[in-house]
Amino acid sequence: MNKTVIKGLGLLLGTGLNAGAAMALEGDAQRGQEASATCVACHQADGSGMNVPGGESWPRLAGLDSGYIVKQLHDFQEGRRENASMTLFANMLDDQQIADVAAYYSQMPVTPAQGGEEVDDALLERGEQLANRGDWDAYIVSCKSCHGPGSEGVGSDFPGIASQHAGYITAQLEAWKNDERSNDPQNLMGAIAKRMSDEDIQAVSAWLSRQSVTAE
Ligand code: HEC
Ligand code: HEC
Repeated sequence: MNKTVIKGLGLLLGTGLNAGAAMALEGDAQRGQEASATCVACHQADGSGMNVPGGESWPRLAGLDSGYIVKQLHDFQEGRRENASMTLFANMLDDQQIADVAAYYSQMPVTPAQGGEEVDDALLERGEQLANRGDWDAYIVSCKSCHGPGSEGVGSDFPGIASQHAGYITAQLEAWKNDERSNDPQNLMGAIAKRMSDEDIQAVSAWLSRQSVTAE
């Protein structure tokens, strides 16, 4: 998919996804650092998060788009996205603090993902295929057609997923597959995840977690 199409998709989605008064608030990274005092226990001081094998992984926030972070925090507050740990912490923030922590995390350099479960080359190859080319026989669109070149993210609608922790990517794809995450109004991710086998999910998570993202 070329850049124009990606941009077009972004515009199309942007109208529904990020509307809301909160978007108008300007974030301040310095204030964001203060407001993030309660976040570091899980997301870490450098925003790297942590892969927790067999447990609940904490996503990397460093380098995520600020508009995407704002949307997710409001989604947790308003129950469109459900997670016991995060709902609690999102509810501690007011709209200004949400804009501030988003500014703070978005300007941090992307940190390398952890994920390193042993996987074989065939599985990684399948992961690369799904991410970069998709699988038309299974009606799976390539991840990069929305998540952008290298799946490094496009604007505030399509988050960077390269160099995100494998455990977190897997958990989110499973949540969409089981209708436990549905805060994406057009349910694009639900449609994709439902077409993926458990092995596909493991493959693409392992591959994406092994990609490094170079600073712009
Ligand atoms: C107890 C651990 C914990 C704490 C403390 C915590 N988080 Fe989280 N956070 C999580 C988990 C777990 C998830 C993934 C939730 C899910 O699976 O939906 C998450 C997800 C997120 C996301 C969504 C990321 C994405 O890629 O979609 C954002 C944004 C976020 N947290 C911000 C914060 C902020 C800001 C704070 C502090 C005010 C905070 N978190 C405190 C555990 C925590
Ligand atoms: C048709 C567009 C589209 C395609 C193709 C697509 N995604 Fe997504 N994806 C989205 C959107 C939109 C979101 C943001 C949802 C939201 O706002 O909560 C998203 C979010 C995600 C997230 C959550 C990231 C986070 O930080 O919480 C993961 C993981 C993900 N996608 C994985 C994938 C994988 C793996 C593929 C390829 C197999 C893929 N996506 C293909 C549109 C797409």
